[in-house]
Amino acid sequence: MTVYELQQKILDLKKEKDICILAHSYEAREISEIADFVGDSYALSVKAKSVPQKTVIMCGVRFMAETVKILSPQKKVILANPDAGCPMAEQMDKELIEQLKSRDPNRAVVAYINTTTDLKTICDVCVTSSSAVKIINNMPEKDILFIPDINLGTYVANQCPNKNIKLVHGGCPTHCRVRESNVLQAKKEHPNALFLVHPECTPDVVKHADYVGSTSGIMDYAKKSSAKEFIIGTENSITEHLQYDCPDKKFYPVSKDLVCHNMKITTLPEVYLCCGGEFGEEITLDEETRLKAEKCINKMIEYGG
Ligand code: 13P
Ligand code: SF4
Repeated sequence: MTVYELQQKILDLKKEKDICILAHSYEAREISEIADFVGDSYALSVKAKSVPQKTVIMCGVRFMAETVKILSPQKKVILANPDAGCPMAEQMDKELIEQLKSRDPNRAVVAYINTTTDLKTICDVCVTSSSAVKIINNMPEKDILFIPDINLGTYVANQCPNKNIKLVHGGCPTHCRVRESNVLQAKKEHPNALFLVHPECTPDVVKHADYVGSTSGIMDYAKKSSAKEFIIGTENSITEHLQYDCPDKKFYPVSKDLVCHNMKITTLPEVYLCCGGEFGEEITLDEETRLKAEKCINKMIEYGG
């Protein structure tokens, strides 16, 4: 069977079974083509609330499927590949953050959405890479503990100089692989290219950026820009999607190593099996945990718009 034939089968099954497929922009091209909606983590979590279908299949990582379930408990939410986790989301446990909170109880805890549901239950506000600066500026609290990404936290702290932001060490193993030397080499090879980067990269990489933003932010910027060449400082799917979408422009990955294997383990045949109920994991959350975690996601939507 060809990829096209399999995609047609998935589209038929989606209709027949009233399924919505959400895909993060790091997913492979053939998956984004059959998705109802493709976006960054903020857009996906907001979108999930308003889709009419009763079943949502998340092609992304576990915290994204959990966020959909937190916001839409009445829907059946399936994580397309149960092994797709985000290593950063697992880096911090509730006990550690509870200890830090007890030492400094007046400091608001802001959690990147790349965290477990359990950890979200004790946080005050969630943010995503596209909404973090706006949300932190809109929060009434001045003293903030930002978890778990030290790189995004550093970027946000620089953008919000009137806030007192403390960080705890954590980060994305994929984006941390990019070195300043990769940027300098790419700039030497493509001197006319603009450098667009995700804030999960280290500060010595981010400081060379012409634009810093979320996955969708990077894609929108490149599409609207009058420039013709871009070095992309985020997961390599974004370079590939942009090259398809803008054939008259040129896109170069800042490093060939910028691959998130967790975003790549979901395959098209698995999505097909999920639609038929033969694969994937249904996300279940106990109601008390869900309600506690929902508070900080609702705050994200309130402050982030
Ligand atoms: P976005 O918020 O840009 O989608 O990022 C999510 C993510 O996991 C980036 O590594
Ligand atoms: Fe997690 Fe990094 Fe992969 Fe994003 S790119 S899902 S933060 S490991």
